[in-house]
Formats: sequence, structure tokens, C-alpha cells
Amino acid sequence: MSTVKIFRLVYLDFFAKNSQTMVEYYTNTMGYRITEEKDGVTYLSNGFDHHNIVITPAEEKAVRRYGYQLDGKLTLEEVQEQLHSKGIASSLKIDAKPGVSRLVELQDPAGNVIELFTEMEQSAVGFGSSGIVPLKLGHVAFYAKNFQETIEFYRDALGFSFTDQIGVGFANFLTCNTDHHVLNVVASDETRLHHIAFQLKDASHQYVSSDLLARQGRPTLWGPSRHTAGHNIATYHHDPEENVVELYIDMDVFIPELGIFEPRPWHEVLPLKPKIWEALSAWGTEFELDLAKV
Ligand SMILES: [Fe+2]
Repeated sequence: MSTVKIFRLVYLDFFAKNSQTMVEYYTNTMGYRITEEKDGVTYLSNGFDHHNIVITPAEEKAVRRYGYQLDGKLTLEEVQEQLHSKGIASSLKIDAKPGVSRLVELQDPAGNVIELFTEMEQSAVGFGSSGIVPLKLGHVAFYAKNFQETIEFYRDALGFSFTDQIGVGFANFLTCNTDHHVLNVVASDETRLHHIAFQLKDASHQYVSSDLLARQGRPTLWGPSRHTAGHNIATYHHDPEENVVELYIDMDVFIPELGIFEPRPWHEVLPLKPKIWEALSAWGTEFELDLAKV
């Protein structure tokens, strides 16, 4: 019998103190399109899915809700059964939110709310015509309390693979597809967002994006530099609520069948296998912003 398998991170739900400013950032700066506004909540799409970013007005900023798509080999009821057999409680929600008619809601050990579904409405609103317009939402990094349990939860209950670490057990990279990481679970005693990352198409897109951000008073805080784990060339800036946002290209491609990363000219060894790294920058560059402490 198949096991529960997530293959894609589809959306994040930002609880925003100033939701209108966040919506403006995601439309004017990031080039996302609004697909629906309901009960004060704004749903934004990168071009195809009903939503990839949700902005919910709140007293305090937070990200506590993540949406993942399952491979569809199991029904949601079968998914619930398997989770139940591992001692994980979940509830089936019907027509609870726009764009996803059936979803299973549960909590990870860090306290994040996770929504699992097999189908999302494909609004296909098209990519934005101005702003950064990333290719996709690529990954999230979050500080996690109960981080060891959280890592095991994503690996053993939801079908993620462990790829790399930075520092022994500090930043833990997990994937559910061929991207080097879809999740980065950072050891902590509290749960909160570390950063959210969007894939760009190439280096030129990255430069143009930094220029656009500078014009809008959003300086590049770290980078461009190539990371060690993942080898993505990354730049980081703040959104209006000071959430850290990464824009990247060149992410390592994981080949789970071989347990290696697809070889690249910039790899330190061939074949490159999952390992523990020490530094953040493969180029040895240091920046004023300490990414390990954002
Ligand atoms: Fe990242």
C-alpha cells in the first residue's frame, strides 16, 4: 500500500498586522495576482494555483499555516488512517476555504498548522506583468521548537527526505521532490518563520529584482552569494512586516534514487552527497546580516 507522500509546498498563510501593506507588497513588488478576497483574507497566486500566498489580518505577525499537495495515491480518508496509526490526530475539512474543497488539517510537533490536499482549483490567472514575478514559491525555513520531533514527523509521516545540515542539527534541510530543500527546520525553543524563498529564472532576473527592491526602499540584506547547502545563489530582503524573503536561482537537484545531487561544476566533490556543512556561503563571503540569527 502507498504511504502518505507530499510532493509540493503550495502556500503559506501570513498573519499580518498591516495586511493591506502586505497585499501591496505581494502584488506590486512580487508580481502576484489576487484571485479571491473573502472575509478580509486575501488569496494571491503566482500564476496557476488558486493561491500560493494568503494574507490574513491579525494582531501579531506570524506564519502558522502551510498548504501541501499530496501525490493523490491515497484518498484523504486513507491519509487520515495512516496518520492515526502513527498517533497523529487530523481532521477532514470540506469547503472550509476558497480554492481547496477538501483538506486534512493537522499540526506538526512545532505547532504549525498543516493543510494537506490532493487537489486545488487551478485558477490559471497567468503570471504577473510587473514586479519580480518569481517562477515559484520554493521553500520555507522556520525555527521550530521540538525540532527533532518535527524533522522526524516530516520524514516519517509525510514522506520527506533529509538532505543536508548546516551545523550539527542546527539547520536541517528536507525535501519532498527533487529540489534540494522544500523545508529548512532550524533548531530553536520557539516556532516562527526564519525565511520564505522564491525561485527566480536566472542571474539577470536576480539583478533586476534587487534593482527593483532598491527603488522601493528594500535593500538587499545578504547576498548575492552561493550557499553551501543547496548551492543556491541567494539574496535576502525584508517584506513590509520584516519577514525575511529569499530570492534564489541554481538550487541543487536531488536524485533520491542515487542519494546524490545532480553534478554541477561548482560542487566541491563529485558526486555530492547529503552532508553537514559549516559555513553559509560557498564563496566565503561574510555579510553584516547574520542569517543564522534572523
Ligand atoms: Fe532559503
